[in-house]
Amino acid sequence: ESDAETEYTIRAQKGETEIFDGVQTKTYGYNSSFLGPMLQFEKGETVTINLINELDENTTFHWHGLEVAGSEDGGPHEVLEPGDEDTIQFEVTQEAATLWFHPHPEGDTSEQVYNGLAGLIYIEDQNSKNLELPSDYGKNDIPLVFQDKIFDDEKQLNYEAAANEDGTVGDTSLINGTLNPKLTVDKEKVRLRLLNGSNARNYTFKLNTEDDFVQVATDGGFLNEPVSMNELTLTPSERAEVIIDFSKMDSDENIALINEDGATLLPFEITDQTGKNTEIPDEMNDFSVTEEEKSLPVTKEIELFGMMDMVTINGKKFDPERIDFTQEQGVTEVWEIYNKPDMMGGMIHPFHIHGAQFKILSRNGETPPKNERGWKDSFSIAPDETVKIAIQFKNKGVYMFHCHILEHEDNGMMGQVKVE
Ligand code: C2O
Ligand code: CU
Ligand code: CU
Repeated sequence: ESDAETEYTIRAQKGETEIFDGVQTKTYGYNSSFLGPMLQFEKGETVTINLINELDENTTFHWHGLEVAGSEDGGPHEVLEPGDEDTIQFEVTQEAATLWFHPHPEGDTSEQVYNGLAGLIYIEDQNSKNLELPSDYGKNDIPLVFQDKIFDDEKQLNYEAAANEDGTVGDTSLINGTLNPKLTVDKEKVRLRLLNGSNARNYTFKLNTEDDFVQVATDGGFLNEPVSMNELTLTPSERAEVIIDFSKMDSDENIALINEDGATLLPFEITDQTGKNTEIPDEMNDFSVTEEEKSLPVTKEIELFGMMDMVTINGKKFDPERIDFTQEQGVTEVWEIYNKPDMMGGMIHPFHIHGAQFKILSRNGETPPKNERGWKDSFSIAPDETVKIAIQFKNKGVYMFHCHILEHEDNGMMGQVKVE
């Protein structure tokens, strides 16, 4: 563990970005005109972050997946008004993972994320250093933030025109804020850190060759062993780290990452260079679900229901004054989340809880798929599905739980748990 101290200053600001050649699109970003920097934390270190709101509207700075005190988590209570500054400080106590940060002001999260406020956090620890997975940032360890937007005739993001109460889905895909990106890789194993940073869209990733890739990490840490996958679905806010083996692929093969419709998301240009010959270790972590956790009674029941602006949790809409549940710090409880269908059948909701990484115990009573047997902070839940999780909060405070379709969250599909 590191005893280093790192200080960052993060400014939420407005700017202009050349997404289309020769056109300036009005966007939001952290320390830049669009999206944000990658913050690198080490387990054990103390991190200080100066927060500055340079927007002309209220915002908050939320650390999605990070185990910090409720007062530093940047939920809707931690508002910074235009021009306001604040400083937070915390110790990084969790294992290596890819997290992210984004705003969380009540009712305006969807618009601010849509306009570009989102950044990544990498946590490293002794294990992640020992594992020797591909880790040359930008070369064989690539962050990929997937988002979808609608641009108007002036090539502007016009949230109000684009917005859909059931989740704003765009017709234009951006990766790391870039239109039609291409990734150049050497003939080696390449690690992709995937974030579904969209407001509402689910992404199913595959290779156009039908080759498998391996998933090595979930939202909150490494899987125990690499899981070979033919396709992978991420709902909004979920992350996964996958490794594609380009060492046996040819430069003229036109390999690409595609989505479920077969549309190209990211073409790869493979050079003639042979890169590092990394082996993916068979054992990467010691994540486990204990017998005790499996036998705990359900102490919190959560029912997700509705669509459009009629979304609720346990029949209620978010009320900042209402605490829905309490839980004791350091005590593991089992929550049961149920997605109740409506007359139209219902829809998938990505469910997220702040301030903790948790374990998925079961989906409809069955052990979750292999690639969900690791730390999670968000998961998809289909209509009529019941998901049980074991969750423990390391810190105290008030934390949100909500649907991560951002328009559902803004429409009140959110509640609060107070950890004391
Ligand atoms: Cu990604 Cu309430 O957060
Ligand atoms: Cu969060
Ligand atoms: Cu939802």
